[in-house]
Amino acid sequence: MTANSAVAQAHPNIAFIKYWGNKDEILRLPENGSISMNLQALHTRTTATIDHDASADTLSINGEVQEGLALSRARQYLEKVREIYSISGKLRITSENNFPMAAGIASSASAFAALAAAVNALFELELNSDYLSALARLGSGSASRSVPPGYCEWFPGKTHADSYARSIADSDHWQLWDCVAVVAKEEKKIGSTQGHKLASTSPLQDARLKNADERLSICREAIFKKDFEQLAAVIELDSDMMHAVMMTSRPPIMYWQGASVSIMHEIRRLRSRGIEAAYTLDAGPNVHIISTPDAIRKIEDHFRGFNGISSLITSPVGDGARLISVN
Ligand code: DP6
Repeated sequence: MTANSAVAQAHPNIAFIKYWGNKDEILRLPENGSISMNLQALHTRTTATIDHDASADTLSINGEVQEGLALSRARQYLEKVREIYSISGKLRITSENNFPMAAGIASSASAFAALAAAVNALFELELNSDYLSALARLGSGSASRSVPPGYCEWFPGKTHADSYARSIADSDHWQLWDCVAVVAKEEKKIGSTQGHKLASTSPLQDARLKNADERLSICREAIFKKDFEQLAAVIELDSDMMHAVMMTSRPPIMYWQGASVSIMHEIRRLRSRGIEAAYTLDAGPNVHIISTPDAIRKIEDHFRGFNGISSLITSPVGDGARLISVN
């Protein structure tokens, strides 16, 4: 009997070495490799059901029927998937996030990783982890890194099939934490998809790409050796370089708010006093404070109520995408 419905779950991830700019926008083949950690405390749970009577795919997120951008992005994704994998059938997708959408934590990584895992089961594609990661990547580049568990590296590749992420270390290898300092709640003005297209207009993007492999190996090595100092230096450098590209693209994008900058200064001050904390920022003003089991409670206590922070969301490193049920 063929399945009618599948439920899957995935976690968002925070990039240590960032993805910014594509060689191929349609297939989302990135200009450079990237490394991230999955965030266990946050997840998206998605049900995909084949809808025999429907003339188009439908989407609801957190109980709200979607129209506009979110719906057209999901439809475009499913069209691409149906074409590449020669499958047919419109889908009814219902998705729930356990974290507030308004917190500014990108949900596209967990959303497309969960959707890819559900589609894989529903259409019996039997994709292994590499191919499942590539399938998720078609929806959102960073979703490729939410498929395998723990700390993941996305290899840029040259074709759809060879651009995927793999786990480079399990969660239990090193229990790092991410404490997200939420500094703004308003919608982003320029989303990542649009931002990737602007990357090449910055005179700094070439310099960023030139040294990306070096930063990837320093980051990989820091994770293998569990060397926090080395990790802190390379992730802050990589985040600053990506934001320098954003700020100098045409038109320029300035994701940092005043509070983001104060928090970054404060993190460096804490680290100079021996507290294991390092910052990294994605395409938004929130500051992700990466830390160790020894330091995480101190960091939460320190930043709770800090000027400009509206809330803290804390998570340890987490699992990959998983199938929950098929009916
Ligand atoms: C700054 O994966 O959100 O978070 O492929 O268009 O969905 P799309 O972009 P997305 O870009 C992520 C950008 C980033 C850095 C990163 O996660 O590597």
